[in-house]
Amino acid sequence: MAFYSDELISEIMAANDIVDIVSSYVSLKRSSGGYMGLCPFHNEKTPSFHVSQSKQLYHCFGCGEGGTVIHFIMKMENLDFVETIKYLADRAGIALPEERSFVSDEMHEKRRTVFEMNKEAARFFYQRLEDAQKGQEVREYLAKRQLSKKTAMKFGLGVSGSSAGELLEHLKAKGYSLEEMLLSGLIMKNERGCYDRFRKRLMFPIFDLRSNIIGFGGRVLDDSMPKYLNSPETIVFNKGSNIFGLNIAKNYIKDSLILVEGYMDVISLHQAGIQTAVATLGTALTEEQARILARYAKTIYICYDSDEAGRKATLRAIELIENTSAKVMVCDFTGAKDPDEFIKLKGTEAFLRMLKSSWSAVMYKIELLKRKYNLDDIEEKIAFVKEAALILAQLKSDVEIEAYVGKVSDYCGISRESLFAEIRKNVAKNNKQDRSRYYKDKNVYNKREIKPNMAEGKDAFTTAKLYEAERALLALAAERKDLFSAVKEKMSPKDFAKGVYQNAAEYIYTAWEAGKEPDAQEFLNSLPADEVKEASSIFFRIVTYHDGLEAVNSLMHTIQDEKLTIAIRNEQDFMKKSELIQKQQLFRKEGQV
Ligand code: UTP
Ligand code: MN
Repeated sequence: MAFYSDELISEIMAANDIVDIVSSYVSLKRSSGGYMGLCPFHNEKTPSFHVSQSKQLYHCFGCGEGGTVIHFIMKMENLDFVETIKYLADRAGIALPEERSFVSDEMHEKRRTVFEMNKEAARFFYQRLEDAQKGQEVREYLAKRQLSKKTAMKFGLGVSGSSAGELLEHLKAKGYSLEEMLLSGLIMKNERGCYDRFRKRLMFPIFDLRSNIIGFGGRVLDDSMPKYLNSPETIVFNKGSNIFGLNIAKNYIKDSLILVEGYMDVISLHQAGIQTAVATLGTALTEEQARILARYAKTIYICYDSDEAGRKATLRAIELIENTSAKVMVCDFTGAKDPDEFIKLKGTEAFLRMLKSSWSAVMYKIELLKRKYNLDDIEEKIAFVKEAALILAQLKSDVEIEAYVGKVSDYCGISRESLFAEIRKNVAKNNKQDRSRYYKDKNVYNKREIKPNMAEGKDAFTTAKLYEAERALLALAAERKDLFSAVKEKMSPKDFAKGVYQNAAEYIYTAWEAGKEPDAQEFLNSLPADEVKEASSIFFRIVTYHDGLEAVNSLMHTIQDEKLTIAIRNEQDFMKKSELIQKQQLFRKEGQV
């Protein structure tokens, strides 16, 4: 909240339904009052993890974790608050204001200038493409590549100037200083002076998810080298954290997206109606890009070039994607060097069929192995089986292993039984490693799980009862205005036993008094992270009662009685202790102190 307005946060939360979000991590079943499933935050066999769609909250009755969709993502993805807001905003396609808080005002200003300048440059490149003479050659090139005018416009393609200072002069005329131009990477400087970075190239603007132009790629129109020149890293351009085409693809992605190598592949696929294609920016996929992609799609189809470099890049990308929540599939388009060529040769239908018959990561690895060895040679066949067994041993379930064993057996004519035996050897090895990892994780978990009541020694039991009653009381006060009035009559916020409850009471009281219903999400988002868990249990509680007022009175009674019990325990002075005991006895008899 320090950075984003409450309205914006509400908008983002409203656009990310908690059941939707949680479902992508936990298999949920409908239950009374909402959904339930196995808690992702601790190990359990029977579900105690509840999600309420109406309240937009989750709570685990096993480990006590709970909160809003924001807390869920923070925990699950290990992100901080601001990162989580960005994540959820991205997911819902909501634009966030510039990140003022991260960068100084001066830096913010500079970035804006570069964005504007990039837009101006893109306009300049586009106008040259349209120009009868200046655009002639590149228009012919586009025609040769079978790219329509509409496609060129959709991607904002253009052509850079043909002499060293055309863009420079243009930007100068638009009022930009040399210093500003250098910041954008569009203009370079050497001993002899300043000059345009891009000349006689087909220009591809690169957009971020908010449709700012952050940089350019430029392709030569002939066979000269380098084939592509990209903008250098600048204050707005980071190759490892942006993705080409995602600004468009994000509007089409449902469950899956297609990752290709080249700008041309993306554009060509989009033109053919495959609008979920994206590419990296001339560099290998990074961990960050893999994470971004996994936010948009459950399945990522890797569709890299069919050469050796493409295969190597595919294996690296598999590793990175397997570390995210997304599933990875690998395409095989034998007969074409890249997706662009494939779709032009065979068409969209064939491309979709090819996607359908794509390989799982495991099958792809086995396939590569098969190509590496000559299976007619006995020695090589044994080597193949051993390596294949290593791959299969990494699979998580017997069902999966079983499914692949059949294929491998078919390839090499080794019986399923022998294959299983070989795999089991490897599984045993893996398990040993896995188990030590499991124990390590478990320790971390145990350290985190200090039960607050246990830490309070001999008062543990009675305080637990007090806390329990206070939570129920707050739940009732949050639910009904008349019950709030009844609670408030007897207890002010500071009378509650814990800081978290005092905060909650403060919030609930203030809300009702301001004439609005307390909103659990709003409250939870205003708390420091370490208080959310406990506070969420207040709002998640379902207090059953026949008569609300009676329930309030009975809880109030319990609270007073507990307070006396605690006071008695804590009192060292014999006389005072005796007085307190008498007081409690009277209270229990008369119902009043
Ligand atoms: P490709 O050579 O496959 O290019 O490089 P492409 O996009 O398919 O283009 P065409 O079909 O040959 O015209 C894949 C990507 O690698 C980066 C670019 O991002 C390119 O889109 N690349 C390639 C460079 O950055 N520099 C280069 O010199 C070559
Ligand atoms: Mn290519």
